[in-house]
Amino acid sequence: MKKGKHIVAANWKLNPETLLRAKKIFDPIKKTAGHLKNVETIIIPPAPFIAPLADSYSGKRILFGAQDILYETRGAHTGGVAASMVESVGAKYVLVGHSEKRASGDDNETVAKKVRSGLDASLNVILCVGEKERDSGGKYLEFIQAALVTALRGVTTKELRAVLIAYEPIFAIGKSAGDALTPTHIHETTLYIRRILTEMFDRDSAFRVPILYGGSVEVSNAGAILSEGAVQGFLVGHASLSPDEFSEILSIADRT
Ligand code: PGA
Repeated sequence: MKKGKHIVAANWKLNPETLLRAKKIFDPIKKTAGHLKNVETIIIPPAPFIAPLADSYSGKRILFGAQDILYETRGAHTGGVAASMVESVGAKYVLVGHSEKRASGDDNETVAKKVRSGLDASLNVILCVGEKERDSGGKYLEFIQAALVTALRGVTTKELRAVLIAYEPIFAIGKSAGDALTPTHIHETTLYIRRILTEMFDRDSAFRVPILYGGSVEVSNAGAILSEGAVQGFLVGHASLSPDEFSEILSIADRT
């Protein structure tokens, strides 16, 4: 991770259908990202596309990531993908704890084991946390706290340098810019996340952890979230599948 740069990660989820289409999305993004000095672009495609995309790219401004890993490292786990496998084909990052994986069974303990597995394989871990809904009594903050504390238990101060937090309120995922959290609410939550980190680690280390926002980031809200939300970048879902829209988000991050 480069200090001082904004980080914009593209979570392609289960898209697109073929490698040919993946290349068609990647090629224009590659051209834009290559010109941007102030942004680290991370492309997180489906696992089969990591190697061919990484192999087709010789620049330095784009890095690749995996959407998930098993915490087991080898053995009888049909269908599984281990951290060392994605690392060996060019991934530098892994998403852990995405709400769509939590919905299919990953609890905080599972997420913690995946964080460990990613760090042990020398991957940078993007730990996703976010509440399902907000309540006026502030229970959602406890939910975020539990997700962070459990997932980062056992992570050393040195290892924390390879950890990023993606704050993704679940109710804002996969909608449109109007449904994203307001920059003010994002700011409040990032301050809260930062506070939890300072309770777990020393202040300097806690303040170095990049916090990204995810949940309906689009061209129309990216600038405001970045300048008023106190985040260091984005985890972008649907808008990252449109090369034009994603390139514009990258350019906004570069000049903000
Ligand atoms: P979205 O997805 O940008 O489509 O809301 C974000 C995510 O799920 O990481």
